Amino acid sequence: MPPIIDLLRREHGYIVSVLDVLEQQLRRFEIGDQADYEIVAAAVEYFQGFPDRCHHPKENLVFDRLRKRDPSVVQEIGDLAQAHRDIEAALRALGGALTAVLNDAEVPRQIFVQIAKDFIAQQRQHCALEETQFFPAIARILADDDWQVLQGAMTQERDQLLNGSGDRRFELLRRTILEWQSETATER
Ligand SMILES: [Fe+2]
Ligand SMILES: [Fe+2]
Repeated sequence: MPPIIDLLRREHGYIVSVLDVLEQQLRRFEIGDQADYEIVAAAVEYFQGFPDRCHHPKENLVFDRLRKRDPSVVQEIGDLAQAHRDIEAALRALGGALTAVLNDAEVPRQIFVQIAKDFIAQQRQHCALEETQFFPAIARILADDDWQVLQGAMTQERDQLLNGSGDRRFELLRRTILEWQSETATER
């Protein structure tokens, strides 16, 4: 398995963990509890950062290469670059709704919850499609020389959640993920 697939999978692990945290906060909204806006804002900021700026562009590079090697792959997987643009649009809607909520604009909480839920569902579905179709296709079709070219073209920047950046908001997010994971592990 090419190392880049391992890295993309690990990045998915962080994306899914942040989706879990966001979902947990939405449940608080729904039962009428006060959500922790600092965590919600850190989660939205996380998605606007690494996944949008680095993870999707890396996948786009791999997808382009794959498409050149085997054009039929688009029928199998769909247009991944378009899927990333759709996620960007959903993220902009989410960011806008959060800003409105934080500014106490007249945005019913229910609308924010729905926009966030749609974003979460879209992201989860997207990651699942990549793991079940995209990653196996790239492992099957691309060869060592492709990987060398791709490695050279890709950003080497690492996810801030992965490399433990000192940023306070991301530390809060990391801590929340770890606490939540240990809570759900003991519940099992
Ligand atoms: Fe993706
Ligand atoms: Fe991905």
